[in-house]
Amino acid sequence: MKVREILVTSALPYANGYIHLGHLVEYIQTDIWVRAMKAQGHQVTYVCADDAHGTAIMLKAEANGVTPEEQIASVKASHEADFSKFLINFDNYHSTHSEENKEFSELIYRRLSSAGHISTKDVEQLFDPEKQLFLADRFVKGTCPECDSPDQYGDNCEVCGTTYNATELKNPQSTLSGSTPVLKTSKHYFFNLPEFEQFLKDWTRSDNRLQTSVANKLQEWFEAGLATWDISRDAPYFGFQIPDTPSDEPDKYFYVWLDAPVGYMASFKNLCDKRAGTEQALDFDRYWAQENEHKTEVYHFIGKDIVYFHALFWPAMLAGSEYRTPTGVFAHGFLMVNGEKMSKSRGTFIKAETYAEYLHPEYLRYYFASKLSDKVEDINLDLEDFMQKVNSDLVGKVVNIASRSAGFLVKKYDGMLSEVCAEPELLEDITKTGDEIAAAYENREFSRAMRLIMQCADKANEYIDEKKPWSLAKQEGTEQEVQDVCSVAINIFRQLMVYLAPVLPELTNNAKEFLNIDSLDFASRNQWLLGHKINKFKPLMQRIEEKDIEAMVEDSKASLAQVDAPAPAAITNNKPAAKNAAPEANADAEQADYIGIEDFAKVEMKVAHVLACNHVEGADKLLQFTLDVGEDKPRNVFSGIRKFYEPEQLVDKKVICVTNLAPRKMKFGISEGMVLSTGEPKTGLTVVTLPDACVVGDVLA
Ligand code: MSP
Ligand code: ZN
Repeated sequence: MKVREILVTSALPYANGYIHLGHLVEYIQTDIWVRAMKAQGHQVTYVCADDAHGTAIMLKAEANGVTPEEQIASVKASHEADFSKFLINFDNYHSTHSEENKEFSELIYRRLSSAGHISTKDVEQLFDPEKQLFLADRFVKGTCPECDSPDQYGDNCEVCGTTYNATELKNPQSTLSGSTPVLKTSKHYFFNLPEFEQFLKDWTRSDNRLQTSVANKLQEWFEAGLATWDISRDAPYFGFQIPDTPSDEPDKYFYVWLDAPVGYMASFKNLCDKRAGTEQALDFDRYWAQENEHKTEVYHFIGKDIVYFHALFWPAMLAGSEYRTPTGVFAHGFLMVNGEKMSKSRGTFIKAETYAEYLHPEYLRYYFASKLSDKVEDINLDLEDFMQKVNSDLVGKVVNIASRSAGFLVKKYDGMLSEVCAEPELLEDITKTGDEIAAAYENREFSRAMRLIMQCADKANEYIDEKKPWSLAKQEGTEQEVQDVCSVAINIFRQLMVYLAPVLPELTNNAKEFLNIDSLDFASRNQWLLGHKINKFKPLMQRIEEKDIEAMVEDSKASLAQVDAPAPAAITNNKPAAKNAAPEANADAEQADYIGIEDFAKVEMKVAHVLACNHVEGADKLLQFTLDVGEDKPRNVFSGIRKFYEPEQLVDKKVICVTNLAPRKMKFGISEGMVLSTGEPKTGLTVVTLPDACVVGDVLA
C-alpha cells in the first residue's frame, strides 16, 4: 500500500465565543476522518487554530476591559479544553495572531500585489463619529429603503429580503453607540478576484475537489459575476497591518478573512518548526510548494456558510501567490436540535462545556457519525433519538457482545480463547465488511459506516442468541463448545472495536486493554485472536439517562449566555455576491452581545417605595408588592422572591421598578411592573435597594 501524506484542517473558530454543539459537528467529523485515515496507515497531520482577528474581537476585549491579546489567549485556552474533552486530536492548535501567520499573510499579499492582483479604490462608508470607526454592515441598523421596515441591518432586510448597501438605509444608526453615522471616504485595498475567473471555473470543476452541490452553487456565483474583494480595514482594527501602504493614509489592516485561511499554513509551519529534527519531522514545502501539488494532499473541512471563502478566494489567493491549492474542500451542513435551529430559550443552544458536564462526549461522536454523510445537508440532533440510538446501538448491541461472553472465558478458561476459530465463515464475513467500512470512512459516508458496523454487531448477537452459551454452560461435556462460541463472539467484538476506533477512541482504547491487544489499526483485524488470553471485562459504557439530558437542557436555558446563533448560511441564501461578494460573515456577527442605546432607552425604570409587601395565598414563590412610583395610584407588582425574603424585610425600602413592562395577568391578580433583583432564581435572589436619598418616581438612566 502507498502511504499517503495528508494535511487536514477544520475551520478556525472565532476567538470571541465558546464552542457549541454546532461547531462540534465539524471538529468531530474531521477528527473521525483523520483517525480513520491514520488507522489505515496513512501519514496524516491535522492542524487548526483560533481565528483571532477582527472588529468583533476588538470590541469584545474592550467590553471585557482587557487587551485583545488577553482576550484571545483566554478564549484559546477554553477552546483547547473543550476540544480535548471531545477527543479532537489536533496535531497542532495555533492562532492566527502569530508570527508565522503575519509572515505568510504579508508574503502572499506582496506576491499578489507584485503580480498586479491588488488594486485600490476609494470607498464611501458609514462611520461612527462617536466610536471613531467605520461600521461593518452588521453594526448599522435603520429603515429598509425598499419596504420601510424599521430596525433592519445594513446588508439586507429581514422583512422583504432586499439586499442593499448600508449607505442606502434610511435613518441609519450605529448599533455600537446609537449615534447617527456619517459618510466618510477612505482608500481600500482590493483583491482582483475576477482575474481568476477562468482559473476558478476550471479548478472548481476538476479533480473532484468539491461536492456536486457546492460546485453547482459556485456555478450560480460565476453567473452572477465575480467582484473584486475588499481586503482592507482602516484602523482601529485588531489584525495585521498591510505592508507598504502610504504614510499619509490612516493605517490599513488586513480584513480578518484575508489572514484567516493563511492560518492553516501558519499552524502547519508552527508544527514543522516544533518537530524539526525529530522522527516525525515534516517538510513545509512538501505540502505547500506549487511543484509538490501532486505529492501530498491538503483537505479543508468547513461549514456550508464559508464555502465562498474556501472555494473562491482561498484557491485564487494561493494560485496567485504561487502556492499549491487544496486537493479538496469538504462542506457540511448545519446542526439542528430537535428539528429546529438551536435556540437559547428552548435550551438547545448547548455549549460544548455544558454538554460535557452531563453526558459523555463519545455519545455525541457516535450520534454525529451515525448522521453524517458526504453531503452538505443539515443534520438533526433529536435528543430522544440520540438517547435511544446510543443506548440501543452502543450499549445494547456492541458492548453487550463482550459482556455476554467475556465472563465465561475469564471464569472458566482463565481468559484463554480457543486455538481454532469455530465459525470461520462468520468471522471472514465480518473481516471483509471492514473493507467497505474503511471505504465509507474515507468517502466521509460515516452514517453508512455506522450502519455496516451495526449489521456486524447484529450478526454477532444473533449468533450468540442461537448458541446460547449460558445454557450450554449448564450442560455436561460442552466445555469446548462454550469456549468456542465465546471466542467467536470476542473476535467479532474485537473487529467492531477496530471499526469503531475512529469514532470512539476512548472506549476502544479501554477495550484494547481488556482484549490484551496492542493495535486497533485497520489491518490488525486480519490476525484473528486464537489461543490468546484476554483480561477481565470492565463495563465500557453506561446507558444515557433521560434525566441527564433534561439537566443539560435546563442548564443551557439558565446560562442564557453571550453568543447568538451563527450568521445565516451563505450557501443557502442565494445572494452571496450582493456587493463585494463575500458576506461580512460571522466575524462581525457578534453584535448579538450589544443592544443599541435606543433599545436600552425603551426600558423605563423608576425609583419605587415599598408601601406594603405580603405573602400570596397559594403561591409559594411569590411576594406581592404595593409600590409608590410617583404616580397617582400605587402599583401592584408580583415578584418570585418569596424563598429568599420575609416580607417585613422589604417594607419601606427604596427599590427599582420597571414601569413600562406590559401588565401581566396572573392567577392572583395583575402585575404592573417588575422589581429588579440580582442573582439566580435557583440559588438566591437579592432585591436591588437604593439609598434613601433617591427620589420616588425618578427615572434611572
Ligand atoms: N472563523 C471562521 C472560519 C475561518 S476558517 C479560515 C468561522 N468561525 S466559526 O467559529 O463561526 O465557525 C467555525 C466552523 O464551525 C465553521 O466551519 C462553521 O461553519 C462551523 N459551524 C458553526 N456553527 C455551526 C452550526 N450551528 N452547525 C454546524 N457547523 C457550524 O466561521
Ligand atoms: Zn425591506
